[in-house]
Amino acid sequence: MSSNTVAEFAVELQKSPDTLLEQLQAAGVSKQDASDALTETDKQALLSHLQAAHGAADRKKITLTKKSTSEIKQADATGRARTIQVEVRKKRTFVKRDDVAEPDSEEALKHAETKQKEAEHKAELVKREEEARHEADQISKQEADLVQQRADRTEREDRERKEREAEERAAAYVVKTQERKAQEVAEKAAVARIHAQDLAARNEAQAEAKKKADDESKAREAEETARAVDLDERRRKALAEAEAIRAMMNAPKKVLVAKKPSEEKKEVKPADAKKGTLHKPATTAGAGAAKPAAGAPGNKEVKSAKLSSSWSNQNDSNGKKKELKTRGDSSGGVANRGNNWRSGPRGRRGNDRNDHRGPQSAAPVEARVIDVYVPETITVSELAHKMAIKASEVIKALMKMGQMVTINQPLDQDTAMIVVEEMGHKAHVAALDDPEAFTLEEESQSESEALSRAPVVTVMGHVDHGKTSLLDYIRRSKVAAGEAGGITQHIGAYHVETPRGMITFLDTPGHEAFTAMRARGAQSTDIVILVAAADDGVMPQTKEAIKHARAAGVPIVVAITKADKPDANPERVKQELVVEQVVPEEYGGDSPFVAVSSKTGQGIDELLEQVLLQAEVLELKAPVEANAKGLVIEAQLDKGRGPVATVLVQSGTLKVGDIVLAGQTYGRVRAMVDEDGKVAKHAGPSLPVEIQGLSDVPQAGDDFMVLPDERRAREIATYRAGKFRNTKLARQQAAKLENMFAEMGAGSVQSLPIIIKADTQGSQEALATSLLKLSTDEVKVQMVYTGVGGISESDVNLALASKAIVIGFNVRADAQARKTAESNDVDIRYYNIIYDAVDELKAAMSGMLAPEQREEIIGMAEIRTVFVASKIGTVAGSYITQGHVTRNAHFRLLRDNVVIYTGQIDSLRRMKDDVKEVKEGFECGIKLKNYNDIKEGDMLEVFEIKEIARTL
Ligand code: GTP
Ligand code: MG
Repeated sequence: MSSNTVAEFAVELQKSPDTLLEQLQAAGVSKQDASDALTETDKQALLSHLQAAHGAADRKKITLTKKSTSEIKQADATGRARTIQVEVRKKRTFVKRDDVAEPDSEEALKHAETKQKEAEHKAELVKREEEARHEADQISKQEADLVQQRADRTEREDRERKEREAEERAAAYVVKTQERKAQEVAEKAAVARIHAQDLAARNEAQAEAKKKADDESKAREAEETARAVDLDERRRKALAEAEAIRAMMNAPKKVLVAKKPSEEKKEVKPADAKKGTLHKPATTAGAGAAKPAAGAPGNKEVKSAKLSSSWSNQNDSNGKKKELKTRGDSSGGVANRGNNWRSGPRGRRGNDRNDHRGPQSAAPVEARVIDVYVPETITVSELAHKMAIKASEVIKALMKMGQMVTINQPLDQDTAMIVVEEMGHKAHVAALDDPEAFTLEEESQSESEALSRAPVVTVMGHVDHGKTSLLDYIRRSKVAAGEAGGITQHIGAYHVETPRGMITFLDTPGHEAFTAMRARGAQSTDIVILVAAADDGVMPQTKEAIKHARAAGVPIVVAITKADKPDANPERVKQELVVEQVVPEEYGGDSPFVAVSSKTGQGIDELLEQVLLQAEVLELKAPVEANAKGLVIEAQLDKGRGPVATVLVQSGTLKVGDIVLAGQTYGRVRAMVDEDGKVAKHAGPSLPVEIQGLSDVPQAGDDFMVLPDERRAREIATYRAGKFRNTKLARQQAAKLENMFAEMGAGSVQSLPIIIKADTQGSQEALATSLLKLSTDEVKVQMVYTGVGGISESDVNLALASKAIVIGFNVRADAQARKTAESNDVDIRYYNIIYDAVDELKAAMSGMLAPEQREEIIGMAEIRTVFVASKIGTVAGSYITQGHVTRNAHFRLLRDNVVIYTGQIDSLRRMKDDVKEVKEGFECGIKLKNYNDIKEGDMLEVFEIKEIARTL
């Protein structure tokens, strides 16, 4: 165009000037040098020559192939993201004017079909829609450019000499506008260059070339016109297709919105319509796609709509993707899983159901509030599991609350519930996984008609006030006489037939150690006989008994015992009891007072009368024909009989062969004996019996009940044992942490490890509490193990390992245990009276106390002269004014009655001899250890430090 020299033209044609010169020469234009001027005529000549040589006139069409590759990310059915390679191939054929329209339109159709086939592929459609729109844009651009091009061409035709140049530019332009790919432009350029070279090689007639170029130019113009039409058509199609695709993307939403009101006539509930729609995305998409397709012009849209059925839940053009994601199976699955995961085992179950139902699973993921049932103890990991979160999150939450816990640490119910609330869930006190929850139901079902029953009367009072003696008189037995140490150490249960009916008595110990037994006695009774000795009055355990009775809410009948004694003063006792709010009926209160004597039998009938009167008022009733339930009063491990429990039947009838659940133990009742050792086959309400056959020794005070089957009893017993263990563990761990700092501060705390083996569960408990009470700040009683039954070798081994002393209460070590204990120096002590055990242990612990150091002044010395001996140092020439001075004594140096120094005497001399002691009225030389600043007239207060053993 504007190139005026060979060199410039060469640059424009992207070839070397030498080649151009050769070609020019071949075309008959004689140019010798690159700097030679080049006219339009010269260029025209070259073009004609090249065209002739290249045979361009023979070529009817140029085919360009474009291939583009892209990637899309897609989640598959398992929720894993996968990358899919999408390859789009296009073919463009440009044909000469003569056969323009036909092949090209065919080509376009083929192309469209190819596209449709490609569109069937689900993953490709995102790409395709883009492609379609892109193409539409491209074509519009092309069209606009084409108009411009045509104008240019007209201009160029006016200047025929620029024909060659125009051809090249047009070709380059086509490439550029069609494909917009630099690579292909280069390819085209390369083709053009090759053509040019070929042309140069063949030197043809310029005129013919010109003519041909002219022809070609015309053909091109026609072709461009045709293409413009074609492009216009294709652009329209592409746009329509893009529109159809977009319409389909919107389709599900439209369906949902439209269906609600309109579908009602089909008697489909909106929720159901929605459910179905969401649950079967493919069907829905198909239906949804059909709607806009029907309204869209042309059949292309219909095809697109068909194709779209498989991908409509994937594709997205305007933010529908999010909504689509939660439905269906592949991508939606991820969201659902997330939801499941958050909702935990209970929630998960619920959600699984939701998955089948549909609508809920389509709901957006949100924090679920889970109902968490918290048992009495729960480990961190279990709690996390219940909330469907990681244990670390629970640990973190607890850390925020200032608690450092481990994953397996049991938490108590309160803490766990706080954590649950903290995590935004709802905490409930657990009853669900507690098998006992159903036990109550079973019980209520088995309720039969209640008949009147005998009263259970507990005798309580201070030690030695005559409780057992009173019962002995009533029962005509001699229990008190056989008691070790004269005190009761177990709860005794007896039933007595009186002329007015049966009464069951529970005798409780009066010694302070048996608080728990008294409490149990009060809890399992209907009436309390409060015993107070007429000669002793209200004592600490009398007061305690009153408290227990009050706590249990049972009426009190007062028996003032030992009324036969000369120093008996029932009136005083009455006064003292009034102070304790136990008011006699004669004073307007509600407690009958009866003065009795177990020696003479005075007042005993009246006492029984009063008791039965109270019982009548209470109208005591219990079902008889029902499964028994009641309380364990005492339990022990018998060598021959195994675990034995004294139980009080409170309702129903206990029979031999029944399956009994007692606390954490269970078993079949193998045998039953009454308090006198007589075999019993059954025991009705208010009767105490001793049963054998339990799997273990139950705790005194445990409830017992008869269950229909053993499996269930075992289940509950195991559950209770586990619960107990966890609670214990939780308490221990809490205690450990609490005590850690206290112990660190306390320095060396002495501890006395103890193992207790007792005859009954009650005495073991009483002994343990009494001994634990002995703990002081300096010496701690450490209960290593307490148990019921004889001392076995394993107890001795445990003692050996923990350096404990073994206490046998009413039990003995077996031969093997004795041997092991002897050879290993394990201390086993036997007791049969609780206060003996307590006293001895107290003494033992006193021995462990660091002795107290006390100063004891032994004498006074006056310093009369001070002399300094070169070898020895300063010596105080003193006179003992009082007491005596010993060589190892300590001193306080007093000057004008002010303490100057406190130290130790170094040596003591009398007349140059070392002496041990100098008595009052004698003179001596005293050398003070590390101290020389003494003066005449100073006084020495001499004292010794004595160690005094302490007691608890
Ligand atoms: P603990 O069970 O250890 O609390 O004692 P207790 O209340 O059962 O007293 P217990 O029946 O063992 O009697 C204690 C002492 O009091 C015994 O020596 C009895 O002989 C004596 N004693 C009990 N009742 C009477 C009584 O009515 N008159 C007289 N004179 N002595 C009595
Ligand atoms: Mg007694």
